[in-house]
Amino acid sequence: MATHGIKRLAIAGATGTLGQLIIQELSQRAPGLHTTLLAREGSEVQARLLTAGMQQFSVRTVDYELDGERDLIATLAGHDAVLSLIGGAGQDTAQVALIHAAARARVRYFLPSEFCLDTRIGMNLIVSSYEVKRKIRDDLMVTGMRSIFIMCGFFTDTFLSADFGWDLDSHTVLVPGDGEGLCSFIDKEDVAKYTVEVIKRAEAFMGEEWVKDLRFATATLSYNDLIQMGNEATGRELAVTYVSQEDVEHTLMRDIQRTGSGANSKAVQMQLAIMNGCAQLDTAGFALSNRLFPEVVPASVSLSLRAIFARQ
Ligand SMILES: NC(=O)c1ccc[n+]([C@@H]2O[C@H](COP(=O)([O-])OP(=O)(O)OC[C@H]3O[C@@H](n4cnc5c(N)ncnc54)[C@H](OP(=O)(O)O)[C@@H]3O)[C@@H](O)[C@H]2O)c1
Repeated sequence: MATHGIKRLAIAGATGTLGQLIIQELSQRAPGLHTTLLAREGSEVQARLLTAGMQQFSVRTVDYELDGERDLIATLAGHDAVLSLIGGAGQDTAQVALIHAAARARVRYFLPSEFCLDTRIGMNLIVSSYEVKRKIRDDLMVTGMRSIFIMCGFFTDTFLSADFGWDLDSHTVLVPGDGEGLCSFIDKEDVAKYTVEVIKRAEAFMGEEWVKDLRFATATLSYNDLIQMGNEATGRELAVTYVSQEDVEHTLMRDIQRTGSGANSKAVQMQLAIMNGCAQLDTAGFALSNRLFPEVVPASVSLSLRAIFARQ
């Protein structure tokens, strides 16, 4: 079957955290790639500012609501690929509309807003955190578009946050289990670099496949490793509280009883994933995809983590 490279790209959610980095990387690594930024009303000014003076980018205002579908299809017509970087609740609503419109506009490649651990591992543990991402995967399978799922480890800076138990101001951390559970990590700047290389070479590495899962991570570390780095970087001992698996499960169960879905305990669900060995991408026979893209020289996660600790 003949396949085609990506010559025209549309990006949704490009004004967000990851999107801004991807705009920079596209301008440096793929300056000839025509890219349309889809921005919601209210974000298009920011989208124009982010790409000011860069000829390869154009900005289109979009409405992901039902009555905007016809315009969305017309906007996407002629594009080879859609990259969704939609964040938050929009992953469930706007992204679904985007997928349907892209399929109807005969877009060939769709890269959903995945950028997380493998959502299919530890499904019974992770109740709601990845539910939307799994639903999107199912939706994509029936569209006839070629789908590329970019999985990655925890973003270094996102991980050192209250969501994951860190309070760097007061130098404390809540650690799930014994702190030995391994996690994959990567700097988000490197996720942007890999994503652009994936887009540039989609045709070559996908071959005849319709679905491709790619895994990017640059370090495997435990909470205890991070605590040691933090102590060394600051010259101070973090005050560590270890939280048992029973306590974590109890918190999750209480939230499920209250919300019906566990919607308010996403960080807790991640802690359970870490304790149960589901937070490492290159395990259980899965290999990282980094080696397919030797043109990306990733930063050292250890250096990034130490720099974040040292800033406190
Ligand atoms: N592995 C990790 O540690 C990690 C950490 C953070 C994020 N992520 C993943 O990375 C991806 C991008 O995340 P991000 O942090 O860059 O996202 P973000 O900054 O929260 O949002 C990205 C963009 O999505 C659009 N958006 C937000 N809410 C929307 C809604 N309700 N409807 C439609 N569009 C909406 C907005 O674009 P416009 O206003 O321009 O339309 C926004 O700028 C997500 O898949 C996220 O899960 C992974």
